[in-house]
Amino acid sequence: MWKPDRTAGKPLYRQIYEYLEQGIAYGEWPPGSLLPSERKLAERLGVNRSTVVQAYEELRASGWVESSVGSGTRVARSGWDAAPNWRKYTEGGTILPNLPLMRRIREVARNGDNVIDMANGELSADLFPNEAVADLLQGQRFSEHLGYDDPQGFGPLRKTLVATLLRRLGISATESSVLITSGSQQSLFLITRCLLSPGDAVAVEDPSYCRSLPMFRSAGLRVLPLPVYPDGIEPEDIERLYREHQIRMIFVNPNYQNPTGSVMSAEKRERLLRTAARLRIPIVEDDPFSLTSFGGEPPLPLKASDREGIVLYIGSLSKIAASGLRIGWMIAPRTVIGRLTDARQQMDFGLSVVSQWLAERLLQSEEFGDHLRRLQHSLREKQQKMADALHRHLGRRVSFHLPEGGLNLWCKIDREPDGGKLVEEGIKRGILFLPGSVFGSEPGFVRLSYAKPGLHQIGPGIEAFAHALETL
Ligand SMILES: Cc1ncc(COP(=O)(O)O)c(C=O)c1O
Repeated sequence: MWKPDRTAGKPLYRQIYEYLEQGIAYGEWPPGSLLPSERKLAERLGVNRSTVVQAYEELRASGWVESSVGSGTRVARSGWDAAPNWRKYTEGGTILPNLPLMRRIREVARNGDNVIDMANGELSADLFPNEAVADLLQGQRFSEHLGYDDPQGFGPLRKTLVATLLRRLGISATESSVLITSGSQQSLFLITRCLLSPGDAVAVEDPSYCRSLPMFRSAGLRVLPLPVYPDGIEPEDIERLYREHQIRMIFVNPNYQNPTGSVMSAEKRERLLRTAARLRIPIVEDDPFSLTSFGGEPPLPLKASDREGIVLYIGSLSKIAASGLRIGWMIAPRTVIGRLTDARQQMDFGLSVVSQWLAERLLQSEEFGDHLRRLQHSLREKQQKMADALHRHLGRRVSFHLPEGGLNLWCKIDREPDGGKLVEEGIKRGILFLPGSVFGSEPGFVRLSYAKPGLHQIGPGIEAFAHALETL
């Protein structure tokens, strides 16, 4: 939420006045609508009530609002030319908004300097390959073409990825079967929008990555749950879903699944590939975490054993290097790559060539291997610290297993508090986390991410979480 800027050199009441005036003029608060009470707005903006009173007085004097005793302050119905009703417009479109709880958490994370963030599945700044990037940028003359790049992705990056994926994950690909995307998120978006149609049924892990669920709903897909067990989903469930609902695609995250951390067993991987091949249903393998593997050697992705070409493989630099580069990739048959490349050209003409150039240099650099080893080591250390703190502050009231990679602990708690209330209690105590409900899970789970907080913040964060839990 917007807040006045105390360093702006403009009186706070004036900033609030202008913020409200613009909202009214743009139709965010239509004529006749009720503005928040002075007390509530003051609380929300973190200012004295008298500051809001002064802003409201100015708005009254300018004719924007009217107040009467007992019925609050309303936007005036006349005296100014009504703007389009922007609020109504924002309810349109085909992309559904995120869940209110997710928006609330995002706002707090964005504004809150005093909050320990265990909600965001993102690396902390010290885990990015900062030095390697600085070295690559320093003194380098950027000599690449600065025009629109190939919408399929920067050629040298596709070539380097082919070599990297083969060397590190056993995946065979050719440059023509690689599409560079703006993170895995864009790969998922393109797949749901270009290869599926509204009304299609898809099988999705339950629980699963919280940001893919609204995307499936926006695309009008029927989402059918595939329960996740400690050794991954059960391929027989796919047979059943196919018979009952004619599912058209399967979405899985076999290595260090988000949120549960589970790793699909080798036997299930084989059966899954066989089942999908027999039923001729494509598998989307979302694999952002393999290279976080603490031991350095993750189980090979499904794609490494995909002889029939049924796996659309998605990867990303977000969890192993830097999410802000927005570099992701998809490996798929050429017909699929062609269709998605055409669509992504309509969306954004392709990714920044500078970012792709940097990613290519980074993957080629000698430092990248060292960076990965340091990252894996730090993540393991942070995970252990979190596990110790959970045992110390919550003992038997919480249970979890320790995945050998990934960024999250999926914790079962000994009761089933309302997820929204628990999050609010956490925010009061300066700790952010995600309740299981946002991943579509049954009550009684939370996902705690150890990647973003500093090592020294993990203990105090878990202590605050334990206090929040005690209140419910
Ligand atoms: C399982 C999974 N898929 C996809 C993404 C999207 O990541 P990005 O678009 O940054 O690559 C995430 C991010 O948290 C994730 O956890």
